[in-house]
Amino acid sequence: MDKISQSVVKKDHATKISGRSVYVADYPSEGVLCGKLLHAKVARARVVRVEVPELPEGYFYVDAKDVPGDNNVNIVLDDTPVYCRDTVEYIGEPIAMLCGPDEAEVERLRDACRVVYEELEPVLDLRAATETFFDYHYGHGDVDGAFAEADAIYDEEFETGYQEQAYLETQGMMAEPEESGRMFVHGSSQCAYYIHGAVARALGCGPSGVHILQDVTGGGFGGKEAFPSILGCQVAVAARKCGRPVRCVFDRREDMEYTSKRHPSLCRYKVAVKDGRVTAMDIDVVFNAGAYSTLSAVVLQRGIIAAPGVYDVPNLRVHGCARKTNTSPCGAYRGFGAPQTFFAVEMMMDHIARDLGVDSLAFKQAHLVKQGDSTSTCGRYHFPVPLPAMIEEVETACSYREKRAAYAKPQTGRYRRGIGMSLYFHGAGFTGSGERDLIKAVAKLRKYRDGTVEVLASNGDIGQGVRTTFPKIVAHELNLPLDKVFYDHPDTARVPDSGPTVASRSLMIVGELLRRAAIHLREVWVDGEEQEVEERYKEPDFMIPFDITKFDGDAYPTYAWAVNAIELEIDTLTGTSKVLGAYGSFDVGTPVDYNIVLGQMEGGFLQGIGYASIEKMDCDDKGRIRNNSFSDYLIPTTKDVPNLRCMLHVEKYPDGPYGAKGAGELPLVGAPAAYLEAVEQALGGSSLHHAPFTAEDTLAVIAKEGV
Ligand code: MOS
Repeated sequence: MDKISQSVVKKDHATKISGRSVYVADYPSEGVLCGKLLHAKVARARVVRVEVPELPEGYFYVDAKDVPGDNNVNIVLDDTPVYCRDTVEYIGEPIAMLCGPDEAEVERLRDACRVVYEELEPVLDLRAATETFFDYHYGHGDVDGAFAEADAIYDEEFETGYQEQAYLETQGMMAEPEESGRMFVHGSSQCAYYIHGAVARALGCGPSGVHILQDVTGGGFGGKEAFPSILGCQVAVAARKCGRPVRCVFDRREDMEYTSKRHPSLCRYKVAVKDGRVTAMDIDVVFNAGAYSTLSAVVLQRGIIAAPGVYDVPNLRVHGCARKTNTSPCGAYRGFGAPQTFFAVEMMMDHIARDLGVDSLAFKQAHLVKQGDSTSTCGRYHFPVPLPAMIEEVETACSYREKRAAYAKPQTGRYRRGIGMSLYFHGAGFTGSGERDLIKAVAKLRKYRDGTVEVLASNGDIGQGVRTTFPKIVAHELNLPLDKVFYDHPDTARVPDSGPTVASRSLMIVGELLRRAAIHLREVWVDGEEQEVEERYKEPDFMIPFDITKFDGDAYPTYAWAVNAIELEIDTLTGTSKVLGAYGSFDVGTPVDYNIVLGQMEGGFLQGIGYASIEKMDCDDKGRIRNNSFSDYLIPTTKDVPNLRCMLHVEKYPDGPYGAKGAGELPLVGAPAAYLEAVEQALGGSSLHHAPFTAEDTLAVIAKEGV
C-alpha cells in the first residue's frame, strides 16, 4: 500500500465521538431568535392573503416583501424564490418565517397564521406533466438504420422513486448581522460559496457584504448542495429585518417532506440487437424535477450521459427531460442522476440476455467499453477500463458464476435465492466544462512562523474526511507530522473559492491543487517566516473540450469504476428479502486514506441497497409526501447487510493526487440493478422494472405470477 493510503485518525474524530462538536443547533440561544417557516399546505394556489395574528413585542413576520435584494435564489437558474411569490407551487413551499425569542411561542404564532388560498389544479403525476424545465438530445451513428436492420427490438420502461438523503443532522442555518453591517451566515452545508452568492443577491449587497461559514455538518449526501442556499437566504433576510441573529433548524418531518430528494425517473429503452449484439439504443429519460428547477439541469445531464452504461453502443440516441410537477423540488443526491439510468441500462441488458438465452454477465462483458473507445458523447476513455479484472475480483469473493447458474435452476420451498451483478462507472468531477468555465478553483496554503501550515479551501467536511485528507496530502509533501497541518471549516471571509463540495471532486481536483501548492511551498520554504502559496485549476491537456449544447466531447476527465454483486434470499411467505452478501470492487484510484475510502464504499453501497429495496417515499393524492419519519421511511442499517464486502481496485489517475479519482458517489450507483437482478432470479425469472422493490412488490409478483 502506498504510504499516502495508510490510514490515520480523522482530525475530527475526538470531537465528534465525544459529542463536543458544535453543530448549528448547538450554539447558545441567548440573543438568538428562533425562526420557523410557514409552509404552504396546498400543492398549487394563488396566495390571496395571509392573516397574521397580533405579534407580541420582539416577534416578527418575514416574507417576500422583506427581501432587500432579489427574491430569487441563485442556484443554476433563478426560478426558486426566497419566500413565495404570489403563488405556491408545492406543499411545503415557504411563505414566510416567524421569528422570536421563544420557540414554542414562535410555533404557536406560525400555526395561528391563516393563509387564504385560491386553489389551482396541481400537476402531481410525472406522466401527466407537460411543463418541461430542461430538454436535451444527443446521439451518434445511424439509429434508425440499425433498428431497420435489427433481428430483434426490445422496448422496456424502468421507473425509480424518490430517495431521501436521511443525513443524521437535519437542515439548519443561522444568520448574524455584524456591527459592520456585514451579514454572517453559517450552518449545515456543502457549498459555502454557493450560499455566499445566493445570500449576497437576496440581500442586494456586494460579495463583501456577507460571509458564510460551514459549521460542523452531520451528513450531506447532496442534500446540502443547494438547499442551504435557500434556507441561508431566508434566515439572512429575517436577520436583516429583525436586526438580530436568527436561526432556523428543521425538524425531521419538515426535512423529509420539504427538502430536496433524488429525482423519481421514467426511463424508456428501445434497443436493437443484430447477430447477438446490441447495435443501437434509443433512450428516453424523464426526471421529476418538482416545482422549481434547482439543480435538475445538471442532474439530468449526468443521468443521460450515463444512459448507455459501460457499453459500446455504436448507434445511440438519447433524449432527456426534466418536468415540473407541484411537488417538493428534487435535487442532488449521491450519484446525481446516474443511479436512475444505470439501473435502467443494467436491467435492460440483463433482460435482453435472458431473452437471447445467453448468460447476462457474458453478454454484458461482450459489450464493455475499453481504453481508447469513444464515450457516449464522443469523448474518449483515455485511461484503462479495469472492469474485466474487477469482475474476477468479485467472482473470487462470491463465486458469482456458480451461484448464478445454481439459482437459475427451478427452486422450491419457502425461501428462494438469487444473485445479480451490475457493472458501472461514475464520471469523476463536474460534468463537462464546469470545472474550467464556472468553478475555476483556487486553493491556498498559509504557513505560519511556527512552521504550521493551514489549508485554505472552501470544501466542507461532510463526513467524507476532507478535513483529514487535505492536510494529509500537504503534510506528505512537506514531510511534516499531520498535526502541523490543519484545515478548519471554510469561512468565505478567509478562504478562496475552491469550488463546491460536490460531484466527487474535492479530493481529486482540490486535493491535487493542494498537492501542487505543497510542492511549491516546499521549494520556497523559509523557516520562521509567514508564507502563502496559491494554486489554480487548469484543465488537463488530454481533454476533448465538452460542448454542452451538443453533448459532445469529454464529459469527464476520467471515471471511477465498479462491479457489484448482491446475493439474497426471499421469503415467499412474507415477501421480505435478506441480503446474504453484497460484494463490490471499486476503483477510485489511489485511496488517500484506506479506511476513509473503505468507509465511503461501504456506506454508499448500503445506501444503494436501501434505494433498491426499502427506501420508498411517495405523495398522496394532494401532493403531500406520506413518509416523513424514520418509521415511515426505512433506511438500512449494518444489521440489514451483515456481509458487506468492499474491495478497492486501484487504477491510478495521473491528474489526481497520487492517482486518486472521485470516490464519494460511485458506491451508491450500481446497487439497484444488482439487487433487482437477484430478486428476478429468486422469483424464477420475472422481469422487474422498478426500484425500490419492496416486500409488498414481491408479494404482488408472487400473487400474480406464482413462483
Ligand atoms: Mo453531490 S450529489 O454532487 O452534492
